Amino acid sequence: MGASSPLRPPAPPDTCGLPERFLLTADHYTNPRWLPVEQRAIFHRAWLYVGDGDRLQPGMVWARSVAGAPLLIVRDSAGELRAFYNLCPHRAAILSPQAGIHPCQKLVCPYHAWVYDLSGDLLGVPAQHQFPESFQKQDFGLRSLRLETWSGFMFVCFDDSAPPLAEFLGSIPQHLGQHRTAASQPLVAKQYTVACNWKNYHDNTLCDYHVAIAHRTTLNQVQGPVRYYQHQLEPFVNLLYTPLTSAWRDENTILPLLQGLSRDGFFTYGIYPNLHLLGLPNGLLAWLHIEPLTAESCQVALEIYGDPEYCPPASDLLADFEAFMQEDMLLTESVQRGYASGTYTPGPINGLETRIIHQQQLIWQALAAAGEAE
Ligand code: FES
Ligand SMILES: [Fe+2]
Repeated sequence: MGASSPLRPPAPPDTCGLPERFLLTADHYTNPRWLPVEQRAIFHRAWLYVGDGDRLQPGMVWARSVAGAPLLIVRDSAGELRAFYNLCPHRAAILSPQAGIHPCQKLVCPYHAWVYDLSGDLLGVPAQHQFPESFQKQDFGLRSLRLETWSGFMFVCFDDSAPPLAEFLGSIPQHLGQHRTAASQPLVAKQYTVACNWKNYHDNTLCDYHVAIAHRTTLNQVQGPVRYYQHQLEPFVNLLYTPLTSAWRDENTILPLLQGLSRDGFFTYGIYPNLHLLGLPNGLLAWLHIEPLTAESCQVALEIYGDPEYCPPASDLLADFEAFMQEDMLLTESVQRGYASGTYTPGPINGLETRIIHQQQLIWQALAAAGEAE
């Protein structure tokens, strides 16, 4: 799709020969047995959003868990971002046990004091002469994993065979690559615990069928009439594009450098496996990131970035997002109780639910590739 060409109208769901009903069963949303399967088959094979690279100055380390793995996200003294497993190659001690962002010159293992620099190289080993002669420090640097950025936002990937991040993100860089400017700042960061499976919340955020009904006075006011909805399905992401409403244009200022579709509409991207990105022509970018906690609970993280000169005050933004997110939390928790009732079998798919089936197909294919589709 060119920057000024129209998007395609909603396509009927491509079910790849599978039944034209939702692919995931109530069991996928309620049975704890899926959590380790999903970590291995889905999360450890995709690009995963970890946050804004600007949070890390040179010489800072961010210790955090991603998809069940303890990681260190590092900006070394040369300014390069890197990701390592937060464990010592000697006997697997966690190198930096305190979660969060810390200044750090060297990483010293608390067990036997092996010392690493922020490039992951092993610098020092106590009692080195008592290791076998074959021992070489260069063989025991920290184990790294892929880290790439888009617009300053960091993603990691455990899978060396996954496509590069730019390919994974599809048309996102083309459409939203100019939204973040030098004046953009983090405006909102807040986390919510929701009593539903992570896929249930992801389905809801991909659902373009409920917005005019459940969010009639909130999100629907920004997205506008359903008849103008346009969808695009890509290998790992999908898009709902809605032209700006006149009310939105009256109340907001558009970033001068935006052109074409980027200037004229509201982009709502669903990104496999658990991420959403919303972009508006005032430069606002909002991430919704859904992490599994248990089979029937998840953590939803909202992060909003923008130039304060063009975007509404942070308190207004948070109020606007929370208005529709609260509506969604009630619905997803209700659906979760429905799944847990033991009486649900998957229903049919409306054309406005195409983005849900697109992501469910990716999940289904990942489970099938791991020998776990049922
Ligand atoms: S486990 Fe880290 S130095 Fe031994
Ligand atoms: Fe919703």
